[in-house]
Amino acid sequence: MNIKYLGHAAFLINYDNLSILIDPFISGNPICPININDLTSIDYILVTHGHSDHLGDTIEISKKFNSKVICNYEIHLYLSKYNINTLPMHIGGKILTDFGIVKMTPALHGSSIEEDNNIIYAGNPCGFLICNENITIYHAGDTGLTMDMKLLEFENIDIAMLPIGGTFTMDIKDASVACKFIKPKKVIPIHYDTFDFIKQDPIKLSDHLDDCLVEILKPGESLRI
Ligand code: NI
Ligand code: MN
Repeated sequence: MNIKYLGHAAFLINYDNLSILIDPFISGNPICPININDLTSIDYILVTHGHSDHLGDTIEISKKFNSKVICNYEIHLYLSKYNINTLPMHIGGKILTDFGIVKMTPALHGSSIEEDNNIIYAGNPCGFLICNENITIYHAGDTGLTMDMKLLEFENIDIAMLPIGGTFTMDIKDASVACKFIKPKKVIPIHYDTFDFIKQDPIKLSDHLDDCLVEILKPGESLRI
């Protein structure tokens, strides 16, 4: 398994024979090292919420590769207007996919889609647990620190992707408390340095943590498991 960070909250994960994207904010993402034409084939796209820095290029990529989009029911309704192939689910639910089990987790944030000067309701924001080959990954989406994260301790998370940028999500201090709740083996800081208002030094996250390894990935860098 190869986990490539594309900057902000975006990841490209390659399993043996399929590829998934999470929150594919590629065009318009100032720190994303690739463009859409660099992608070869994408089987699934996971979308945590409707904001444009997460829904990103989902429609264009899904149309190009006929990728299945895993998202909440409301975003599924929105994408269905564009004839996108979706797998709708909702918070607390699990689905079995070709790359393992996906569970949708709560996130404390907003979720809407802006289109033609309208604001479209996009359901509750979420995070994802992805369990494959005995590796459990948690992508928190955009969220503040919540007590709900204490429940994630029971999910035996290997890798947690947690926002640290502040302003719209947890900052470093709150993300360190989240780590104490979640108890992942490794944490990858996300959702920082994309814009001026979420500038952070991710190294500082390790100052607050003892038993959790902070894996800082620069955009374009990968973690191989
Ligand atoms: Ni957001
Ligand atoms: Mn965001």
